[in-house]
Amino acid sequence: MKNTREVIHTDNVCMREDGKAVVIIDQSLLPGRTEYLELETPEEMYDAIYKLRVRGAPAIGIFAAYCMAVLAAREGEQDDRKADESDGAGGFFAAMKRYGAYLKSSRPTAVNLTWAVDRTINAARTADTGIERMIAAIKEEALKIHSEDMSMCQTISEYGLTLIKEGDGILTHCNAGPLATSRYGTALGPILLGTERGMSFKVFADETRPLLQGARLTAYELQKAGVDVTLICDDMAATVMKNGWVQACFVGCDRVAANGDTANKIGTLGVAILARYYGIPFYVLGPTSTVDLGCPSGNDIPIELRAPEEIKEKFYKEPMAPEGVRCYNPAFDVTDNSLITAIITEKGICRPPFDESLKVAVAEGQTK
Ligand code: MRU
Repeated sequence: MKNTREVIHTDNVCMREDGKAVVIIDQSLLPGRTEYLELETPEEMYDAIYKLRVRGAPAIGIFAAYCMAVLAAREGEQDDRKADESDGAGGFFAAMKRYGAYLKSSRPTAVNLTWAVDRTINAARTADTGIERMIAAIKEEALKIHSEDMSMCQTISEYGLTLIKEGDGILTHCNAGPLATSRYGTALGPILLGTERGMSFKVFADETRPLLQGARLTAYELQKAGVDVTLICDDMAATVMKNGWVQACFVGCDRVAANGDTANKIGTLGVAILARYYGIPFYVLGPTSTVDLGCPSGNDIPIELRAPEEIKEKFYKEPMAPEGVRCYNPAFDVTDNSLITAIITEKGICRPPFDESLKVAVAEGQTK
């Protein structure tokens, strides 16, 4: 794994020119340090996802697709694989499936990871039986996933912008901005797009314990874009809403079940409950690739459990809890569909009943 200190890349996730490494901005170091990593091995790639060096459901999907492209190129270079060309490249395809399964096991909740890996595997399957054609098909699919994400961000931002007006206060949780996607982001998209068009909003960014994506990434992205952003601790959201400062909540999503139940960063459920109490619309913004129609409800979404050290030690000068104390550290929670005003996808604004509107969005397109 190579480490580049200077800013030499424009994307937060991309492929090195020679196609033999995936390059990412190391999100775990932001905002203090801007460093880029070049990842070449399956282990480095797995580690980058697990340690949230690359994070946010769409960005994880783009990253995983590029990983498959890089691993395909490297696998194809091996001498035994070259000889394999004659037997229909079965060994190459089996290796790609193994790499895919390994990457998919790094984090369980964001469905975009599985979705992107499966797209590359299917592209290879349908390409041909020759290794060279499969390598080319996987790379092409990865580039397609990336460019689709860019236009998805633009469209979601446009739809989201129709839901807010000049001067509105907007509360967001975690980070669903450009770093978590490829362009404007999802939940931050309408705010960034509106700002580009001369509008102004007052954004409240939950810091988002325990990994501080709100403080480190959302506050950083919005401040850089010139948005009026105020950072709050997660437990201050109720007060900010009670004060009448919030007209809408915008959050991202890691997996949306067929009935609209939505997994997103831990703490999102609390925001939705507060919003309902104070009569504030609660919007989920995310691409249809995050909708998992194979998951009937939120009860079927696997929730990632992470290490206690993230609560007790990380970011502190010294441990802040008694040694050995039991911790519960789920990375995500599920917001019941009844608390969600609308789910904004690149296909349109889905309103309740979500089991119908989501199905239409995924299958057919426009639902607005
Ligand atoms: O653990 P993370 O930082 O990957 O969690 C990210 C979130 O929960 C985001 O809100 C979600 O992935 C949407 S990103 C457009």
